[in-house]
Amino acid sequence: MFDPITTPVDLTTTYLGLQLKNPLVVSASPLSKKVDLVRRLEDAGAAAVVLYSLFEEQITHECHELDHFLSRATETYAEALSYFPNLKRYNLEPDSYLEHLHRVKQAVGIPVIGSLNGASPGGWVEYARKIEQAGADALELNIYYLPTDRFISSGELEENYIALVRDVRAQVGIPIALKLSPFFTSLPYMAARFVDAGADGLVLFNRFYQPDIDLETPEVVPSLALSTSQDLRLPLRWIAILYGRVAADLALTAGVHSARDVLKAMMAGASVAMLASELLANGIGRLTEILADLQAWMEEYAYESIEQMRGSMSQRAVAEPSAFERANYMKALNSFDNRLP
Ligand SMILES: Cc1cc2nc3c(=O)[nH]c(=O)nc-3n(C[C@H](O)[C@H](O)[C@H](O)COP(=O)(O)O)c2cc1C
Repeated sequence: MFDPITTPVDLTTTYLGLQLKNPLVVSASPLSKKVDLVRRLEDAGAAAVVLYSLFEEQITHECHELDHFLSRATETYAEALSYFPNLKRYNLEPDSYLEHLHRVKQAVGIPVIGSLNGASPGGWVEYARKIEQAGADALELNIYYLPTDRFISSGELEENYIALVRDVRAQVGIPIALKLSPFFTSLPYMAARFVDAGADGLVLFNRFYQPDIDLETPEVVPSLALSTSQDLRLPLRWIAILYGRVAADLALTAGVHSARDVLKAMMAGASVAMLASELLANGIGRLTEILADLQAWMEEYAYESIEQMRGSMSQRAVAEPSAFERANYMKALNSFDNRLP
């Protein structure tokens, strides 16, 4: 018989083959830009950290700059020399990411997941191997592309994504997680194809930052609003639907702000719950508080382990699977009928 007084609850989980002491993972964000911050994340209880992303543009920019300066260098040596400070500045970007990753790995004992952000197949994916060589325990690949060309079909784009995952898979031996956008016409189909192409985990979802319009300047301005717990719902539904249907670990990112959010993520079927906004807004110490709340809740409700609750509220497990589908949509709309002004 489980006695919470004498038996501590088991918060361990596995993600991408990594044994984690609890399900709280820090998602890609500026919180991993300083070694000292990552140490503090570990001390506060983070089970793993995803490093901020290295972007395709940073890598390809480096290559273009290199070509440009080298070709000019053959014209006149003296002129070329004057370009070197610039070349050095651009050239260092991806390499400094790798150095930083290496330093972070040496500074902490928790797993460190590298992050590569891009959309097109190409030479830049060799950075996946470099990230592995720098010591990453796993790689998160964020495939963010915003199609604006009306002649590119969804099918064509999806094939590009699959080719990209295959290319990255061919580069590395470490596990790969794919951070997805929610905007696929058939997410379960694509999720299964990504897994077939070599993804070991799926991270749901990438949050898009929508530009805004400043009326007075007038200018299109970037806008980055932190999430709230309301943002949990979208990934929660999809994790509940995908759990048990794809052979991949599922990570929930977007809207995790409290122990209750973590519990929902686990019950839907996630292996880990990732956090960025909560820690950016309310400090790294929130990890410790969330872990304590998680433990207290599990003791109160007599759960022995995270494993025991995982997927217990997934679509496959609940008595009313249609609650995750279209039927629920009508129910939700009708719920306002007796609340009219
Ligand atoms: C300031 C900031 C920077 C971020 N940088 C990255 C990044 O480099 N790569 C990435 O994949 N996601 C990045 N994200 C997205 C987060 O990893 C996370 O998926 C998203 O914020 C949703 O989680 P949250 O609700 O806990 O914030 C960033 C988010 C924020 C707020």
